[in-house]
Amino acid sequence: MITVIGLGFVGLTTALGFAHKGYTVYGFDTNKDKMEALRRCEIPFFEPELSEALKENMDKRFFLSDSLSEAVDNSKVIFLCVGTPSDETGLADLSQLLNAVKDILKSIKNGQYKIMVIKSTIPPSTTNEVIKPFIENQGFKVGKDIGLTNNPEFLREGTSWNDFLHPDRVVIGTDDDTVFSVLSELYKPFGAPIHKVSYNTAEFIKYLSNTLLSTLISFSNEMSMIAYTHGDIDISKSFKILSEDRRWSGTPDGMTSYVYPGCGFGGYCLPKDTRAMYAAAKSKGYEATLLKSVLQINDNIKHFLIQRFSKETDTSNRVGILGLSFKPDTNDVRETPAAPIIKYLTESGYTKIIVYDPMAMEEFRQTFNSDVEYADNFEDMLSRCDCFIIVTWWKEFEAKKELLLQKKVYDFRYAIQRG
Ligand SMILES: NC(=O)c1ccc[n+]([C@@H]2O[C@H](COP(=O)([O-])OP(=O)(O)OC[C@H]3O[C@@H](n4cnc5c(N)ncnc54)[C@H](O)[C@@H]3O)[C@@H](O)[C@H]2O)c1
Repeated sequence: MITVIGLGFVGLTTALGFAHKGYTVYGFDTNKDKMEALRRCEIPFFEPELSEALKENMDKRFFLSDSLSEAVDNSKVIFLCVGTPSDETGLADLSQLLNAVKDILKSIKNGQYKIMVIKSTIPPSTTNEVIKPFIENQGFKVGKDIGLTNNPEFLREGTSWNDFLHPDRVVIGTDDDTVFSVLSELYKPFGAPIHKVSYNTAEFIKYLSNTLLSTLISFSNEMSMIAYTHGDIDISKSFKILSEDRRWSGTPDGMTSYVYPGCGFGGYCLPKDTRAMYAAAKSKGYEATLLKSVLQINDNIKHFLIQRFSKETDTSNRVGILGLSFKPDTNDVRETPAAPIIKYLTESGYTKIIVYDPMAMEEFRQTFNSDVEYADNFEDMLSRCDCFIIVTWWKEFEAKKELLLQKKVYDFRYAIQRG
């Protein structure tokens, strides 16, 4: 049996979704008007398909609880789906969530083990730094008296019913095997991949998804403002033509290649075209702040990675740079991230830098006046270095990964984990 606390868009959909799958679900909300509307089998907000789902399940598998203690008493697993709005400084206001947690703890009878599932969206570190200590301060040991997990929700208003019943993925943030096994069993009927991650990762994934979406929307809006500033540009047609690019549908290279962290974009087109678009807009009187940030971040990421590297690595180390072209399967080194990375390494005091690339050695030598040594081949490189930085992930490196991993590797492309 499942209890859902907070019956808004997410809570009601969650409650009815689990009921639809055959579970017995209890729901509770502090908003009396909402509870009254639900009792009349009315959805208190507009959301397609929920009305039918409510009628189908009300008092059969979905029950409204009159009190929180009844709702808590009825189930082992309690989903918290209360609001987390912005506070006046822009941070997530956790007061609804902490009030709900406090009230739930007060309602737990002696010795009853409960699993609290935080479905509300909360920023990374909140479960670890706020929720868990909050629970333990009330005298409950997390992992013993209480199971705790973060289980972000990805549904979209307007299609919440379908999104909930057919999730792309289920994310379960916990290091507790019991909690994971209970939650994964609950989600089994939904047929989606289920991921066990840390609390912070689960929280982060939700923001990763949402901030990506907001960035893409702002990007499109900035482009529309640039287009408008120039004039004589059919904005909607331009965007429709943009989506005809096969990369959006995964051929030859999925969008995921772009939506993946690394050490920045390079090559001929992206850096110069972004700069040009920014400059052209400026010349027309529009300051394209998002594009400015996109470029700034492209530089920041390299400084950031080198700073992290140098904190861990003494300057006496012989540092190997794996990959010199701006991406694999080309010998193009124009604006390759390898060049600024080597420059920042040199500025940080590293004097012994050895480089290797299956295809772009000569181009790199001719284009950049870098004070580096060129290895004869991969094996030569391995024998001459103490540690490696992956800048471009070639198939040759993938094939020789085991050899590489015998030394300390700094994977600036997150390529090894990507597989
Ligand atoms: N709306 C979405 O599309 C969406 C999608 C994914 C995640 N989320 C996240 O899910 C959470 C809930 O969002 P929502 O849109 O359902 O919010 P909502 O405001 O529609 O619903 C929250 C409900 O919680 C109730 N509530 C508040 N405090 C309570 C308490 N102590 N006990 C019982 N009930 C209480 C409120 O009365 C309200 O009905 C938020 O963290 C949100 O960011 C929302």
